[in-house]
Amino acid sequence: MKWNFIWFLAILFSCSTSNNTAVIQPSNAGPIPSQQLKVSERVQSLMAKMTLEEKIGQLNLLTPGGAVTGAVVSKDVGAKIRAGKAGGIFGIRGAEKVRQVQEIAVNESRLGIPLLVGLDVIHGHQTIFPIPLGLSCTWDMKLIEQTARLAAREATADGLMWTFSPVIDIARDPRWGRIAESPGEDPYLGSRIAEAMVRGYQGDDFADPATMIACVKHFANYGAVEGGRDYATTDMSRVRMHNEYLPPYKSAVDAGVATVMTSFNVVDYVPASGNAYLFRTVLRDRWGFDGFVVTDYASNNEMIEHGMGDLQDVSARGLKAGIDMDMVGEGFLTTLQSSLEAGDITLERIEEACARILTAKEKLGLFDDPYRYFDEERAKVEMMTPANRMFARQVAAKSYVLLKNENNILPLNKSAKIALIGPLADSRNNMLGTWSVSGDKSKAITVIEGIEAAMGGRGSIFHAKGANITDDPELARKVNVFGKLIDIDQRDPQAMIDEALEVASNADVIVAVIGEAAEMSGESSSMAEISIQPSQRKLLEAIKKTGKPIVMVLFNGRPMTLTWEDENMDAILDVWFGGTEAGNAVADVLFGDVNPGGKLTTSFPVHVGQIPVYHSMLNTGRPYSGEAFSKFKSNYLDIPNEPLYPFGYGLSYTTFEYGEIELSDTIMTENTNIKVTVTVTNTGSRRGAEVVQMYLRDMVGSISRPIKELKGFEKITLAPGENRRVSFTIDSDLLSFYNSSLEYVAEPGMFQVMVGPNSRDVDLKEFELR
Ligand code: NOJ
Repeated sequence: MKWNFIWFLAILFSCSTSNNTAVIQPSNAGPIPSQQLKVSERVQSLMAKMTLEEKIGQLNLLTPGGAVTGAVVSKDVGAKIRAGKAGGIFGIRGAEKVRQVQEIAVNESRLGIPLLVGLDVIHGHQTIFPIPLGLSCTWDMKLIEQTARLAAREATADGLMWTFSPVIDIARDPRWGRIAESPGEDPYLGSRIAEAMVRGYQGDDFADPATMIACVKHFANYGAVEGGRDYATTDMSRVRMHNEYLPPYKSAVDAGVATVMTSFNVVDYVPASGNAYLFRTVLRDRWGFDGFVVTDYASNNEMIEHGMGDLQDVSARGLKAGIDMDMVGEGFLTTLQSSLEAGDITLERIEEACARILTAKEKLGLFDDPYRYFDEERAKVEMMTPANRMFARQVAAKSYVLLKNENNILPLNKSAKIALIGPLADSRNNMLGTWSVSGDKSKAITVIEGIEAAMGGRGSIFHAKGANITDDPELARKVNVFGKLIDIDQRDPQAMIDEALEVASNADVIVAVIGEAAEMSGESSSMAEISIQPSQRKLLEAIKKTGKPIVMVLFNGRPMTLTWEDENMDAILDVWFGGTEAGNAVADVLFGDVNPGGKLTTSFPVHVGQIPVYHSMLNTGRPYSGEAFSKFKSNYLDIPNEPLYPFGYGLSYTTFEYGEIELSDTIMTENTNIKVTVTVTNTGSRRGAEVVQMYLRDMVGSISRPIKELKGFEKITLAPGENRRVSFTIDSDLLSFYNSSLEYVAEPGMFQVMVGPNSRDVDLKEFELR
C-alpha cells in the first residue's frame, strides 16, 4: 500500500466539479425509524438542515489512493468534500496532512460536517506488532488488548480516528493468504480476541483522544473461501455459520464495536454487501448492533460481477440490506437519488444510514472539535518511542511457537559459533508482515542484528544467504508489488549453497532463517503449494548433510507443510512476521532470555491435501484412529488424518505436568455449574508460561456435535517446581449451541471435558447435563 503524495495534493487543490447549490430542498428529517438507533437532538437538528444530496454524501467513503486494493480509486476528492459528497476518507495519514483535508470539509462545505478519517491499522500503526495470526498465538488477551491500545495511541496521534480492524474471520485453510490477518481456526478463541481488540482500540470513553472507533470485519465468513482463493465463494449451512463462523463477530458487537465491514464473498449465494439476512436479520435484529456498516473496497460495485444487476440495482440492494456507507465505489453517491425517485428505496433508510454515520462522528467528539485527532505535539512524542518498541519486542517473543526442540538444542549459548544461513536472516523488508501500511520497513530489526546485539561480541557469527526465498522470477514479481521483498540473487544457486556450506564448516550450530516473504500471505496472496520453496529446501538438504545441529527459524504468514523439516531439523521456531522488533525477539528466544510460550491457533497440515484440518471436526460414521490404513474407514490411502502440529500445540524450554482432572460434580442442571480443576506443575528447570486448555464434547445431540471444542483456556507462568490449580467453570451457556432451528440451546445428556497442553494431548472426564 503506497502513499501517494500527488493524490494528496490533488485533494487540496482540486476544484468542485459539481454545482454545490441545494437542488433538492432539505427534507423534514423527522424521527429516525430504527428501533436500535438513538439519535441525539444535535444530529437530528443537523439532519433537518441537510439536503437529500448531502445526506447521501455522508454515505460515501473516499480514498485518494493511499491504500488501493481494488480496481477503482476516488476522483475529484477535494471537490467532493467541498460539495458535501463525502462522509469519510481513508488512505491518508499524518496530523498536518489530515488536518488540511478536514479543513476543507469544515470550512468549505456548506454545513461544515467533519470527515471520519480511517485506515487499516491492523497489527500496530507505526510500531508494528506480529501479524494477527502470530499475535493470536500468545493466547494472552491482556497483551492483545494492549497492542490495540498502543496502536490506537499512535494512530490517533497521526490524524486517524477509525481503524479497519479487528479481522476476526475464522480461517481453516492455509492456502488463503489472509489467514495471516485472522485469529486462526477457533471461534471461542477468536471471540476472546475480538473483544480484546475492540476494548483496546475503543477504550471505555471516546473522550480520550487516544481512542478510536474500530471496525470488525469481514462480515461474514470471509475465511471460508473455496479452495483458499481470495474473494471466492463461501457456502455453508446456517448451523455451521452460527456455531463456528459468526461467534467472533457477535463478540465484537457485544463488546460495543462501532462499525462493521462487509466481506467480498457471497453468503447463501448473495454477496455479503447486499445480504439482508446478514445485516438486517442477524446483525441488527438479533444482535442489536447500533453502529454503522461500511462495504469493503468497492464491494458494492462488485455485486455487478456477482450477477446482481447494474450499479443502480446493486446500490439499492445494498442500502436495503442495511449497508450504511459505500467504500470507494460511489454507487450510493451516484444512484440512490434516482432509486428513491423510482420508489426502490425509502428516504427513511437513507436517513437512518446518515444518522448512524453522524452519530459515530458525534461519539468521537468531532462536532465539538473536528481537529481533536490532529495534534502534532502528540505525533512527535507518541510515535515509535523506545517504550513502544520494547513492548513490541516482548509481544513478538511471546508470539513465537517452538515446534520442535530435539535434545534441547535450544536455547543457544551466546558464546557459540553460529552459522546464520538463509534468505531471511538479513532481510529487513520482510520483518513487518502483510498489512502494515504505516510501518517503516527500514526501522525493523533483522535477525542478524538481533543475534549480534544479543551476543555482544561473545562467540562468532558466520553469515551466508545460502538461497533465494524463491528462484521463480514470476512468483517474485507477483509478490513484489509493494516493494522488493524477494530479491533474487544473480549468483548461481549452487554457488550460494556452496558458500553456505563453507560458512557452516566453521560453526558449532547452524541457524537457518527461512520461509516466506512478507507478501506471500495477505490479501490476494493465496498459495496452492504451502511447503518451503524448492530453493530453500535444497539449501536445507545440503546443510543437513554437514551433520551439524540445525535450528530452523521460520518466517511465515500461514501454516505450512513441514513434514520434511520436522523429520530433518533439530529445532524449529515459528516466528511468523514479528514486526518492528522481530529480530531482537528472535534472539531473545534463541538464547533463552525469553522462554517461548506461544501455542498454535491453527493446525499445521501434514499435506495440502488434508485441508481443511482442524481440531473441532465432526465425527464420521466410520471414525478412524490409529496409524495404519483401514479399509472402509474415513482415512486416506496416502497420508494420515492427523495434522503435523495440532491446534494449541507449542513447546517450552521447560516441561509441564498435568494432574488428574477434578470435577466438582458429575451432574449439572441448567441452573448449576461444574468446576473443572487441574493442577499443573513446572517439572523443568526454567520459569515458563503454559496455556492450559479445556475442550468439551457433547456426546449426543439433536445435531451432530464436534469431537472437541475449545471452551476455556488460561495462560499461567510457573517457576521451576511450582504448581498451580487451574479451574474452569462450566455453565449451561458454555454447553449451548445453535440447533437446526437456530435456537441457542443446551441439550441434556453426557458430555466429555478434556484438559491438556494442546488439542491432541488431553485427559478426559465425563459429566451429565440433566
Ligand atoms: C480491502 C480489504 O479487504 C479490507 O480489509 C481493507 O480494510 C480495505 N481494502 C481498505 O483498505
